[in-house]
Amino acid sequence: MLLLRLTPTSGSIGNSHDRDWMRVSARSLPSCRYGCGRIANMTTTDPAVPGRSRVFSGIQPTSDSFHLGNYLGALRSWVDMQHTHDAVYCIVDLHAITISHDPKELHQRCRAAAAQLFAIGLDPEECTLFVQSQVPEHPMLSWMLECHTGFGEAGRMTQFKDKSSKNERVTVGLFTYPVLQAADVLLYQANEVPVGEDQRQHIELMRNLAQRFNATYGDTFTVPNAHIVKATGTVQDLAEPERKMSKSASSTAGIIDLLDQPNRIRKKIKSAVTDAGREIVYDVDNKPGVSNLLTIYSTLAGESVADLESRYEGKGYGDFKKDLAEVVADFCAPIAERTNEYLDDVTELDKMLAQGAQKAHAIAAETLANAYSRVGFRQPVYG
Ligand code: AMP
Ligand code: TRP
Repeated sequence: MLLLRLTPTSGSIGNSHDRDWMRVSARSLPSCRYGCGRIANMTTTDPAVPGRSRVFSGIQPTSDSFHLGNYLGALRSWVDMQHTHDAVYCIVDLHAITISHDPKELHQRCRAAAAQLFAIGLDPEECTLFVQSQVPEHPMLSWMLECHTGFGEAGRMTQFKDKSSKNERVTVGLFTYPVLQAADVLLYQANEVPVGEDQRQHIELMRNLAQRFNATYGDTFTVPNAHIVKATGTVQDLAEPERKMSKSASSTAGIIDLLDQPNRIRKKIKSAVTDAGREIVYDVDNKPGVSNLLTIYSTLAGESVADLESRYEGKGYGDFKKDLAEVVADFCAPIAERTNEYLDDVTELDKMLAQGAQKAHAIAAETLANAYSRVGFRQPVYG
């Protein structure tokens, strides 16, 4: 698995080409305002399942419930990949404070996120799930990578531009967020990163950082690939089908939360925006609302869109929505029930997370030690 070459590098580090990324052009400066598998019992000599490619992914604990977009676009593949890959997943609470937060709420949301992830099927015997703040190597590597990231390079991240234009309070942390994300992945020598399309640019940045570090100091990091889940694409908001389902939407009417009560789900689906006409056909351009509902139906029920189209031929939107509401409610109810069971025993839940953090730490510490010696640092002394 991890092959460590601890020989210190000698000679010059970085040529003029390597240093191009450091140039900052005045135009590239962002305008900032601040107030202005299974890795069970893993050691590095005991690979989880030999030959399995490693995946790493993370999700922010910034809401009380994940929504159907998170599930269909990302989390469903987390569950699938734990059986085929050496899977490491992280609840990224360090990322969550890049925008303002409430400490108690954040603490609670980390548990709620973990409970939901176990409830949808993550199995601690099949994967490693942990909370980012319990593995201190993340910010430690992030600092090292920040010192190898060009200011202009970070300023080109579209998510930063987007988020900083929406927030009054724009912090340095929001700016360096993608570098912390790079550290998350590189610490685990991950080969693949399952994420939605919106994360593609961040994966490109982490690839560049890994290659740059390797070229400067010698092979240290695996260069990861994005694993973009195309099957579902993006789940759209039910009330505004031209926008993606997102926790930052102004209203919750078009968002199905995994923890929504069945009646709330039925109500939201009943009032979902459909399109002109009566036909239930998949046509994203002319019928974005119905197409979105068909995608959700098809993925959750495991039936093809074509089969659904013929089943509902000649029937109206009412019948279709009524059946879909039951499919979604039946899907979410057991998840909510299992989530509550996990939350009823937070001692056990915290223990599961601590065990996950220990497994994660074993891998992260080894990578960090190697990176530290390569840049000329002393080894960290823990406790
Ligand atoms: P976020 O809720 O933006 O923190 O996203 C967490 C994960 O869910 C990321 O991998 C996103 O790409 C994915 N995701 C978020 N919203 C959607 C959506 N509406 N459709 C598909 N995937 C989504
Ligand atoms: N930035 C990701 C998002 O907003 C969350 C994330 C943080 C992540 N670290 C990661 C995703 C590492 C994949 C790998 O969805």
